[in-house]
Amino acid sequence: QWTTSSIVDEQVARIREQVGDGKAICALSGGVDSAVAAALVQRAIGDRLTCVFVDHGLMRAGERAQVERDFVAATGVNLITVDARERFLDALKGVTDPEQKRKIIGREFIRVFEQAERDLKAEGDYQFLVQGTLYPDVVESGGGTGAANIKSHHNVGGLPEDLQFTLVEPLRALFKDEVRRVGTELGLPETIVQRQPFPGPGLGIRIIGEVNQERLDILRRADAIAREELTSAGLDRQIWQCPVVLLADVRSVGVQGDGRTYGHPVVLRPVSSEDAMTADWTRLPYDVLERISTRITNEVNEVNRVVLDVTSKPPGTIEWE
Ligand code: XMP
Repeated sequence: QWTTSSIVDEQVARIREQVGDGKAICALSGGVDSAVAAALVQRAIGDRLTCVFVDHGLMRAGERAQVERDFVAATGVNLITVDARERFLDALKGVTDPEQKRKIIGREFIRVFEQAERDLKAEGDYQFLVQGTLYPDVVESGGGTGAANIKSHHNVGGLPEDLQFTLVEPLRALFKDEVRRVGTELGLPETIVQRQPFPGPGLGIRIIGEVNQERLDILRRADAIAREELTSAGLDRQIWQCPVVLLADVRSVGVQGDGRTYGHPVVLRPVSSEDAMTADWTRLPYDVLERISTRITNEVNEVNRVVLDVTSKPPGTIEWE
């Protein structure tokens, strides 16, 4: 029977053996897996790990600080943040097709991360790349190792010649719940360890229509309110996730304050699920829905209507795009 601390000890020993005196790079996404993988490697090799966080501007409110402040405080890790917000907005200009958005965001992420890797390689001898691959990912991709195994939204699909790395994958034998326990054992904050799933392309696929700065700001404020109210109602563990979606090209008439408004609707998409393959819409208490709706329409001027998505998966996917 594996205890969590024996998993940590064993992985730390393995990482030390694999990396020796070498240096490693890890991309942090803000998610659980990359955070726990990085924390394990940090525990094993300390300062010889450098983490890179690409801010693509599509994160939710507070998420950059969670990485830069909370994760760094908990682990003492070396962190480089690359502010690529402009670059992603430029690349997304005029794009409305969901798959096109995903492709562009994935492509830009890889370019930015590779540039960061090149810069690091130029100044030091980094040979290892840390990946938060879990056991289910290994099984899904046929148990292979190497670049083919990298998760699709970070898919480096064959690294360029000058960026050959040996992969370090300390979570390869673990399931998600074990990863969370290891994270807790390593002292990571609850906000990171218990984080609900959030798509790699972020808010980019929760704005229906073109992505721009103004729309991101609107959605980020609405989303923060929904998450705040769900958390304070103690519902985080009951729901799998609750996307908030901005119908940016739709306008609806409303009355706010003294006058008629012509604003945007947002959709709440609370779902319950075991594995995201199927999902049911969560029957949230009416008073919680009421608070979310009132606060969003009061506090986010551009939004004058809050709509609840009552579709299961199938037929509806969890995300709208
Ligand atoms: P769907 O919308 O397909 O989502 O029902 C299932 C789960 O996957 C997440 N999701 C993504 N995650 N990149 C990701 O990393 C993506 O492009 C992506 N699209 C959806 C979604 O949040 C849900 O948990």
